[in-house]
Amino acid sequence: MKEEYLSEEVVDLERVVGLELNNSTKAKSGTIDGEQLLESYVGFCNKYKKKRIPQNLHLDLQLSGDLALDSIDQVEFLLHVEKTFGLSIDPDKSTNVRTFRDLLELVNETQDTDAKGGVPGVGITDLQRHLIEEVPQFYNEVDEQHGRTLKIKGKEVYDFASANYLGLDLDERIFTKIEADLRKWGTHPSWSRAIASPELYTKLENTLSEVVGVPRVLVYPTVTLIHMGILPLVATPDTLFLMDERAHKSIQEGVDLAYAKGALKKFFKHNDLEDLQRELENARDLDAVYICIDGVYSMTGVDAKLPEMVEMIRDYPNATIYVDDAHGFGLWGSNPSEENPYGTGGGGLLRKYNIDVNRDKVIYVAGLSKAFSSLGAFVTCRNDAELEMFATAATFINSGPCPTASLSSAQTGLEISQSSEGDELRKHIFELTKRFVTGVREVGLVAESSDFYPLVSVEIGTIAAVTEAAKILWEKGILITPAVYPNAPIKRSMLRFTITAANTVEEIDNAINALEIVRDLVPSAPYYY
Ligand SMILES: Cc1ncc(COP(=O)(O)O)c(C=O)c1O
Repeated sequence: MKEEYLSEEVVDLERVVGLELNNSTKAKSGTIDGEQLLESYVGFCNKYKKKRIPQNLHLDLQLSGDLALDSIDQVEFLLHVEKTFGLSIDPDKSTNVRTFRDLLELVNETQDTDAKGGVPGVGITDLQRHLIEEVPQFYNEVDEQHGRTLKIKGKEVYDFASANYLGLDLDERIFTKIEADLRKWGTHPSWSRAIASPELYTKLENTLSEVVGVPRVLVYPTVTLIHMGILPLVATPDTLFLMDERAHKSIQEGVDLAYAKGALKKFFKHNDLEDLQRELENARDLDAVYICIDGVYSMTGVDAKLPEMVEMIRDYPNATIYVDDAHGFGLWGSNPSEENPYGTGGGGLLRKYNIDVNRDKVIYVAGLSKAFSSLGAFVTCRNDAELEMFATAATFINSGPCPTASLSSAQTGLEISQSSEGDELRKHIFELTKRFVTGVREVGLVAESSDFYPLVSVEIGTIAAVTEAAKILWEKGILITPAVYPNAPIKRSMLRFTITAANTVEEIDNAINALEIVRDLVPSAPYYY
């Protein structure tokens, strides 16, 4: 199975993560000298519009201290060096690089290894190959599913990778309604949305507008298609996309399309309001700045500092917040309290923080493929003109629509979520998550997540350590999502658990017991970075 994926899907993964996976990467012959390396840094700065080229550029400058490159910048620079010189750097060795001189040594050492015909190390460009080969949780075929217990190659595993938070993927009422809608509409409305849409769409868009509390929304098949469609659409050469460095990769891909159209892009430090304000100040003269963030960060379950950002941009007339709440929608809702810890109604972060998209200059994007178990996503529109514009995005008119089953399941799911049953489900998820997070912390591991949000990442550390930890969990029958570079900082890999209403207390306790073994057997746990 894995071999098949390696041969068939490598190209796709390359495109998605922007890494070269091909082990046959050859080093160019000859030694690289210091000047070439510094030139490559200048090229990197120009390409990514980073303004950190000091007057006196020399080999002993420190990448983080003198040049203020954060961990993401450094990894991007290493990737740039690899591409420029056609080589593959060992990620474990790259963690010791402090200065250009260290990097030069490592680059030439890597050249030597490749030139001698040795097997190239597990270089940063080979990261995906390493993960697919070594981490049992990647690319599995599921033979059977019973609730959140799965059968994979004859082995029973508990599912902590599903993000069907409300458990609606297993709801009989939804199956029945889907069948009725299929009989009415067929399996798939194969019209472009520019031509025609079944009325299921209108109903769903109206319901979503009410649930979220916005004038209008437009439904697309996926969040990724929204980013790929809307971000280039609003871009001009005088537009800056200011991304949180941990913004979801799909936002970054959308911004790359905007960048290809001549827009500017830059990262600010994760959830760092001071850094954001500094960048906003620098961008005062631009026509438009889009602050691109996750609502709930997909690798940690931590909330964006959305209310503070809304407050901050009151002083920046050119700024808009573009928030991707793929995870928060359906869980977070109005007025979180002791009785309803995630709030009521599941309307997402706009409801949680009482945000008005017009007053607060927010474009809100969320998905239906997690809490609502349906292939669908939506973007809010502040007025009819914005709706008309968003409905001309390339991915809206040139890509296919949502299947009937998903339009139907999303609609019924929203109705359930809006009823008192929805709030009961959310309370149940809270209790399960609290049990899990408390257990993990008692074991002595570090678990990130805002206020017992059911996306919990357990900190591990290096990629080698997370690989070992994932193997132990697999042995104990636990399916999780490894959170590794580029979805997590390179030296801060995590084990991501998602907890749904369909998980059981027994499954939670098993997961905690398995993590206790990880704590004992993985040398770098809880985390080194
Ligand atoms: C924050 C975030 N944005 C976007 C996506 C992608 O969503 P979609 O599958 O709807 O493209 C995910 C998927 O996990 C996500 O976590």
